[in-house]
Amino acid sequence: MKEWSVEEFNILQSPGSLQSEIPEAFTEAGAYSPGRFHKQIDGYEKTPLVSLGHLAEQWGVKAVYVKDESGRFSLNAFKGLGGSYAMFRIICEILDLDPEKTSLKDLTGDRYKKRISDIDFVTCTDGNHGRGVSWAAGIFGCKAHIYMPCGSREVRAEAIRNAGPAEVEITDLSYDDTVRYAREMSEKKGWILIQDTSWDGYEKIPAWIIQGYMTMASEAAEDLDALGVQPTHIFLQAGVGSMAGGVLAYFVDHYKNKKPVAAIVEPVVADCVYQSAKAGEIRSVEGAPTTVMEGLNCGTPCKIIWPILRDLAEFYISGPDEMAIEGKKTYAAGLAGDTKVNSGESGSSTLGAAQRIITVASFTEVKQAMRIDENSVLLFFNTEGNTD
Ligand SMILES: Cc1ncc(COP(=O)(O)O)c(C=O)c1O
Repeated sequence: MKEWSVEEFNILQSPGSLQSEIPEAFTEAGAYSPGRFHKQIDGYEKTPLVSLGHLAEQWGVKAVYVKDESGRFSLNAFKGLGGSYAMFRIICEILDLDPEKTSLKDLTGDRYKKRISDIDFVTCTDGNHGRGVSWAAGIFGCKAHIYMPCGSREVRAEAIRNAGPAEVEITDLSYDDTVRYAREMSEKKGWILIQDTSWDGYEKIPAWIIQGYMTMASEAAEDLDALGVQPTHIFLQAGVGSMAGGVLAYFVDHYKNKKPVAAIVEPVVADCVYQSAKAGEIRSVEGAPTTVMEGLNCGTPCKIIWPILRDLAEFYISGPDEMAIEGKKTYAAGLAGDTKVNSGESGSSTLGAAQRIITVASFTEVKQAMRIDENSVLLFFNTEGNTD
């Protein structure tokens, strides 16, 4: 294991211990059912895979691709993919329906309307997950109760209310404590906890959420295959790591033996995946830190996806807020006629991290360790559009 501290960045290289196989749910085959479900939602459109040719030229790499999630279902972020698919699976289970044979139309027709309207979901969110859950509750015709950690801004709560029927409350608790509170409320009130992370005994629902995120990976892989290109490097931002792990597992399975170099990017104040990778086991970051990368401000990695992050990622990058701000500026600038990408700070964090590593001399050793050169094809996920 090698570690660098450059400027305000900490970067860890781990050879990956390959202690486990990719669970079936997170393989390419596991993404089929969520993809089928998402395509049935009104307004579904594949999000664009943008090629930033001039940026690639400036960086001295072969290509830079960005899967741009800012327009996903008009929710400004990829997150609705996870909550909606998990809610679909839960509702099918409650109604004793086979999810492979049940369409969204079946569920939203008169037959099940009353029973679905009696279902209450509850979750904690720092914004995007809650917005997705609220939106999906509107599609299914059920209820949702959403708790946000202290420091969450009212505009974010309002965006959740505007997306669907959810009731939203900002608590005075940290993110992890708000998750515990949502869990307590689910036990007390009989509401169904739909949380985008997992812990001992809470695994099935987050696995469905992760599978939902994999639609993003399968769409990107389809577009890359059509272009006849394969990414050599994938940069993935992590809060609890559910998204990064699901997408990474998909790509490793899709490309079989030609595994891309994967880098996980986090804010330095909430780098729980980095700290876990360093320790070789799950570690939490304590306290209630603040960062402009609000979607990545999480203290404990998702338990079921942690083995994927540990075994299949090679680099863990923990960086300051400026990383995301620089990435956002680069996306927005549209170098020399490149498509301008609308990003929020959680979305732009990965591009900002790569920009430092590739263009700043003090990072040369890291760039070499990452094997970034003129043959590299870099893939990024702009997981959200501009926030507030
Ligand atoms: C925009 C955005 N990007 C990335 C993430 C990270 O996802 P995860 O918490 O699964 O690591 C989030 C999480 O909320 C997010 O909102």
